[in-house]
Amino acid sequence: MRLPESLAEEGKKRIYSYPVEGFVYGEGPDTPALMLVGEAPGETEIHNGVPFSGRAGKELMSFLDRLELTREDVYITSTVRSRPYRWGEKKSRNGEVVKRKYNRPPTAKEIVAHAPLLDYEIEHVKVPVIVTLGNIGLKRLGGANKKITECHGRFLHQPVQRLGKDGRYEWTNESYLLFPTFHPASIFYNRGLLDLIHADLAKLKEFLTR
Ligand code: URA
Repeated sequence: MRLPESLAEEGKKRIYSYPVEGFVYGEGPDTPALMLVGEAPGETEIHNGVPFSGRAGKELMSFLDRLELTREDVYITSTVRSRPYRWGEKKSRNGEVVKRKYNRPPTAKEIVAHAPLLDYEIEHVKVPVIVTLGNIGLKRLGGANKKITECHGRFLHQPVQRLGKDGRYEWTNESYLLFPTFHPASIFYNRGLLDLIHADLAKLKEFLTR
């Protein structure tokens, strides 16, 4: 499934005024084994044009290995398709201070700007389960009151949020199966989460092979 060009262009316009760069399409077959919804691309993804092709992507591929799936079996997308950045300073090897862009989480406005893109994918890609990675994807689809620490590793059968014509989120009529787990990048900051993620993936595998 490829997002229609007109919708991609609309998304680029809607996010244009925010500090973001690049644009990465979701990727995967029309009837994948599952859909993965991340946060936003980083520097590597913007460069390659491929979602989860950087450091977090390497971890994500090890998650898929545990499910005995490959990248080609699943639909991979993100809540926001452009890389949100902030300017920061870094000392280079010769001691010179250089300005560079750092990744940051997307803001609520940036998430709304790209909401029609994810809404389209949710509607058109038929999957038995939508795996949200981290808090951003979980709250965007499952509702702002959801927390990854409470919801991870549980199947949530419920409507999802989509952007209404009035610019506010509304609930879909249809129910979906959500399975929240932690974002693969979370283990860079807290290695202890890996055991929880592995337990979540074991549950998900049981569901997929039932
Ligand atoms: N994190 C995401 O959520 N998406 C990517 O493509 C890369 C990192």
